[in-house]
Amino acid sequence: MSVQTILQLSVRCAILAAGSRPARSASEAKNVTNQIMKTTKKILLAESEMPTSWYNIAADMPNKPQPMLHPATKQPLKPEDMEGLFGKELVKQEFSQERFIEIPDEVRDLYRIYRPTPLVRASGLEKALDTPAKIYFKNESVSPVGSHKLNSAIPQAYFNKIQGIKHITTETGAGQWGSALSIACQHFGLDLKVYMVRISYEQKPYRKMVMQTYGAQVIPSPSDTTEAGRRILAMHPDSPGSLGNAISEAVEVAMTQPDTRYALGSVLNHVSLHQTIIGLEAEKQLEMTGDYPDVVIGCFGGGSNFSGISFPFLRHKFAEGKDIRIIAAEPASCPKLTRGVFEYDYGDTVGMTPLLPMYTLGHDFTPASIHAGGLRYHGAGTLVSQLRRDGFIEARAIDQLDTFKAGVLFARNEGIIPAPESTHAIAVAIEEALRAREEGREKVILFNLSGHGLIDMASYDKYFSGQLENYQVSQQEIAQAVAGLDKLAR
Ligand SMILES: Cc1ncc(COP(=O)(O)O)c(C=O)c1O
Repeated sequence: MSVQTILQLSVRCAILAAGSRPARSASEAKNVTNQIMKTTKKILLAESEMPTSWYNIAADMPNKPQPMLHPATKQPLKPEDMEGLFGKELVKQEFSQERFIEIPDEVRDLYRIYRPTPLVRASGLEKALDTPAKIYFKNESVSPVGSHKLNSAIPQAYFNKIQGIKHITTETGAGQWGSALSIACQHFGLDLKVYMVRISYEQKPYRKMVMQTYGAQVIPSPSDTTEAGRRILAMHPDSPGSLGNAISEAVEVAMTQPDTRYALGSVLNHVSLHQTIIGLEAEKQLEMTGDYPDVVIGCFGGGSNFSGISFPFLRHKFAEGKDIRIIAAEPASCPKLTRGVFEYDYGDTVGMTPLLPMYTLGHDFTPASIHAGGLRYHGAGTLVSQLRRDGFIEARAIDQLDTFKAGVLFARNEGIIPAPESTHAIAVAIEEALRAREEGREKVILFNLSGHGLIDMASYDKYFSGQLENYQVSQQEIAQAVAGLDKLAR
């Protein structure tokens, strides 16, 4: 029996004892748990303990999001309107109000390659910060592609496959989503075309190679292979691209080719749904420690990993009124949650997707070429946007240099080099831990380490050589980018 298993058993015995004996023994058991947990680094779940369902927050939200609108008629979108673009079962999930949705066996089989992922006590970081706070992170970087994106890539490929779809198109920013979908499509025998944001294609050539290794075709976007790409290039020949551009291209191909569907790595409800396996596992793992988070943090691109870590905890807030803060960490150069407007907007640049009620900087907004490519997206998913509007979540914007500083501190004390996207969550976790030190409070902080940065070392190199900079977005730029959005839905 491994040391870890013995530890887990001891913790469970202590927890069981706490639940079954009179009060004095329960407090003794709690002490035992506390003693064991003081030195436990990783909290692991057995494969058999992996959740069997995803959690659908739509079932519990006090205010449901407003409907998505058809881009042409501006009428509420019906499931059948989306079925030409997305797999049928995924569309069903998009509109579902069921609280829990079962994870198919075929998906769970593939999840087992890397799930359950460890919950790790960031004891090294705590020590470096000299904080009384307990910091935990969910380590999603252990997936074969190095990020949480596989959690949705596998079910998306699966549901398309069982429907008889042959080809998939998608976009990718940093390349993490593209890599994840590449291996998922390879597994289910689907052919995949990935439009990769041009600046990331140039900054992160290894990601392109990863996708090619898994059998995908990778095209830098904007490209001349689509009408949308040609239109963008005509206006901006040197465009670095954006997720919005790449989505336009991938959607166009899916809508014009037979047996083809599009897959999106973030923003939509069904993607957030799949990612809730992160928070559902973390919930079980934290239960083993006897701790409960005061703060839950995730970095924010379109919202999928943030939703994944936070929605299962938000349900405690809805059901039991738990006092828990949920914080989204976004780049200061793409501040949709902190400085954007809540309006109907397109998910892509050209205006081919449905209109989504969301916090947005405007679909024309081209974010600065920061190295956290996966966070360079103009809008936030509708679930998160409604939750933000209703005051259930907070958001914080972080400058690029601060994120790298946090990433380096984390790497030096925890050993894992974080993805530039994940460093945003780390920066907020550090802020919270330092505040706990000032207040002398032993608060519990949970954040999601959405990915590792081993394929992003060129970004770290630029940081060390002083070539990285912060980008400020002026109020005028934002005002210009959002002008006219209020008329889109009319
Ligand atoms: C490592 C990593 N973290 C976070 C994100 C942001 O995406 P989301 O907001 O959907 O989690 C990305 C996107 O590519 C990513 O690659």
